[in-house]
Amino acid sequence: MLGQRAATFGRFFRQKRNFNKLAGAGTDYGHDERNYSYYKYAYIGGAATVGLLGYKSLFRTAKLDHAHEDKSVKKLENLPMYKQEEVKKHGKDADRIWVTYKDGVYDVTDFISMHPGGDKILLAAGAAVDPFWALYSQHKTAEVLEILEGYRIGRLDVKDVPKAEPDAFSNDPERHPALLVRNAKPFNAESPPSLLTDHFYTPNELFFVRNHLPVPDIKTEDHRLTVETLNGKTIDLSVDELKKKYKSYTIGSVIQCAGNRRADMNQYKKVQGLMWEGTAISNAEWTGVRLRDILADAGIDVFDEKIKHVHFEGSDLDPTGTPYGASIPMEKARGNEVLVAYHMNGVDIPRDHGAPLRVIVPGNVGARQVKWLRRIIVSEKESDSHWQQKDYRAFSPAVNMGDELKWDTVPSIQEYPVQCAICTPAPNTKVDRDDGTVDISGYAWSGGGRGIIRIEISVDGGETWSSCEMEQEEKQDVEHMYAWTLFKAEVKIPPGVKEFNIIAKAVDRSYNTQPETASGIWNVRGLIHNAWHRVPIIVKD
Ligand code: MTE
Repeated sequence: MLGQRAATFGRFFRQKRNFNKLAGAGTDYGHDERNYSYYKYAYIGGAATVGLLGYKSLFRTAKLDHAHEDKSVKKLENLPMYKQEEVKKHGKDADRIWVTYKDGVYDVTDFISMHPGGDKILLAAGAAVDPFWALYSQHKTAEVLEILEGYRIGRLDVKDVPKAEPDAFSNDPERHPALLVRNAKPFNAESPPSLLTDHFYTPNELFFVRNHLPVPDIKTEDHRLTVETLNGKTIDLSVDELKKKYKSYTIGSVIQCAGNRRADMNQYKKVQGLMWEGTAISNAEWTGVRLRDILADAGIDVFDEKIKHVHFEGSDLDPTGTPYGASIPMEKARGNEVLVAYHMNGVDIPRDHGAPLRVIVPGNVGARQVKWLRRIIVSEKESDSHWQQKDYRAFSPAVNMGDELKWDTVPSIQEYPVQCAICTPAPNTKVDRDDGTVDISGYAWSGGGRGIIRIEISVDGGETWSSCEMEQEEKQDVEHMYAWTLFKAEVKIPPGVKEFNIIAKAVDRSYNTQPETASGIWNVRGLIHNAWHRVPIIVKD
């Protein structure tokens, strides 16, 4: 059945492209959407692999199909009543797939066949979607519910209606009110830009947070970290044993989400994902033990050519019991800088940031720095986690035109490209012409330990540039710079203009610099956006 469904996808994409020519402006994509709207389905395929994540866009798609087919709206009172046992018969192997939501019964067969990530949606087949929505509440909007209604075939017997799901996030920690919340459940929040450059090391409570699932409730004394070798041998450590057994190291290192500045890329052309502005990045001092010391203790030869990757598993689980996971190449894992950390800025890592243990992979994208670390596995292959295989990979439609998303056409993102952004002043700040200058501050950073060698500012659209004063971690050299560079400058207000843009760009140790616009780096998920950062300023006379 699944195989048959997979076979229909190709057909679907062909039909969908034709359909989108008709649907045009009604789709999710504003820019050139008739060409690109089909990426939505493939993207959703990826997103939905953590449950019913794709509902929103998928059901919007379905809604369009419904409009196209001109189906009449069914009257609820005329719909049959079903018992849970009947719904159960319409599980993943049945001809027609049903799900329930509260007291509604829905036939989602056609919806699934349009869906490249349908296998995960089938997790709710023949049962209630309620537990999934309890976890991915950001997708349960009025619009989604309205689209779901298009698939309603009946009512669930009142005796079988599931009790309201407990809030899976009720045990999440308290957060600082200054964080800029982009999504409450799971919690995702940026550091406040007006405070970010006040501290070289971001205070823990202002450090940005990127969670995909509820924060696990772990008692440090009960936590175990297991390490598995290629031949299946396992060692198992408590947090205390880990601290006592291996030498500790401290390193200043940035965590930056691959989606940082996505909102900016979205201005250029629509992308999918949480609309992070420019501060899904923070810098902390991490203390812990070297990953390679733990691997060696487990009897792993870190130069064994058969071992290509090291996998990490978190303790946060999706509704199927699958943990967040990621992997890094062994070549990186055996480096001096990669730590299994227990302290963040000198204190126990706070719950939101991975207590009691997290892996710190300096120079790499945030997604690989797995929090609530409970398992390390060495392997010939990359992690098969959703977040390694179906997300956190960047590619543009130019290389995939006319096809569904092929995640395996590019490798997973590991090292970050050179990045820089202005934190103060905020966009559209009003300045007095009489002041003559504006004070600016911001951050720059590059992946792979490539230190920042220059940060430049322009107020004339990039015709001329001046360099900024930089603050860097003294203990790190330009070949091994994992902490960020903060910068400041006093910028002259250009004469005779009512508005102008302050533009910033950085250059790293490899003389890589940032592209002028998102044009050459646009990708459907809006990842690793690093075009020149522009802040519009208004001049008052
Ligand atoms: N680890 C686990 N276990 N679960 C997660 O959701 N999110 C990842 C990474 N590690 C994540 C995780 C992502 S995408 C990022 S950007 C960083 O954690 C964010 O780290 P922070 O929340 O400490 O800022």
